[in-house]
Amino acid sequence: MPLVLKDRFGRIHDYLRISLTDRCNLNCIYCCNPQLPKSLKPDKKEILNFDELLRVVRIFTESLGIRKVRFTGGEPMLRKDIMKFFEALSPLKKRTGFEFAVTTNGTLLEGNIEALKSAGLDRINISLDSLRSEVFKYITGSDKLSEVLKNINGLEETGFQNIKINSVVMRNINDSEAAEFADFFRNRNITVRFIEFMPFENNGWTRETFVSSEEVKKNIEKHFHLEKIEDKSQIAQLYRMTGYKAKIGFISPVSQHFCSECNRLRLKANGRLKLCLFDPAQREIDLRDVLRDEGSSDLDIITIISESLSLKEREHPEVSTLALENRNSMQNIGG
Ligand code: 5AD
Repeated sequence: MPLVLKDRFGRIHDYLRISLTDRCNLNCIYCCNPQLPKSLKPDKKEILNFDELLRVVRIFTESLGIRKVRFTGGEPMLRKDIMKFFEALSPLKKRTGFEFAVTTNGTLLEGNIEALKSAGLDRINISLDSLRSEVFKYITGSDKLSEVLKNINGLEETGFQNIKINSVVMRNINDSEAAEFADFFRNRNITVRFIEFMPFENNGWTRETFVSSEEVKKNIEKHFHLEKIEDKSQIAQLYRMTGYKAKIGFISPVSQHFCSECNRLRLKANGRLKLCLFDPAQREIDLRDVLRDEGSSDLDIITIISESLSLKEREHPEVSTLALENRNSMQNIGG
């Protein structure tokens, strides 16, 4: 009988996000810290290798009740031999039955879509913040909008059922595009989710650049009728676009934090476990050392992980009050 990861407040943690690398081929303004040196290539030994990752996923899904694993980055598809890793993960997925998800910027999917499907990928989230090539370039520092759109088409053509688009909304950059996004995807089996811009170190967040989900929703409702979909997950507020196929979601980490529903843990590429994205103390539990210590058994690792849950707080402070503090970037934590 597997343990479950329950914290002091009774929340069961069954969702693990794993960052596979903090490198990225895009440079999104809201995600990267421009003051960090770009050329700094992480030492390979710094990050968990595929064997270590397989062991971690096995332990979490076999013995700790994790039901969903999402791989993020940086850009996960940038990791060398990533498809070999996903293939190696596939028998474990079949055995323990976890949901296998990836969050990607969508630029590197070409040629990998069939293989992702046969590896058992259940869900894919694509970050896409603008449909206008000049704005896309301004946000990401790159000209790859057409690749991303082509790869979204490729995913649809292969019959992927759970495609989500994640769009971070920033004032005077892409906030006027919300209804265009809804219009562009309206007849497709896709969920477009607008995410409130969150503050991280040097990412340009201010109260002025922030746009609330409520405001984005109002803008869309000038053009489309939205019908609420009752959903057990409180993380995204989901809506049907009346008369169309697409769904619209709003993720509001700033205006409405969802700590009481929190079921997630994050593992950074370097093997540090984070209990909360906005933990003011920025506590991390090092799993890399134990994984590399030949004397450590699975049980030792299980014990370290389950005991660490007692450090999780009931909630984090208001995100907007954290804006001025030095904080990690999403690139580093993996979203
Ligand atoms: N605010 C909101 N969302 C962000 N993401 C990255 N940085 C931020 C931020 N500052 C999103 C990405 C991706 C997801 C993992 O996190 O767009 O879709």
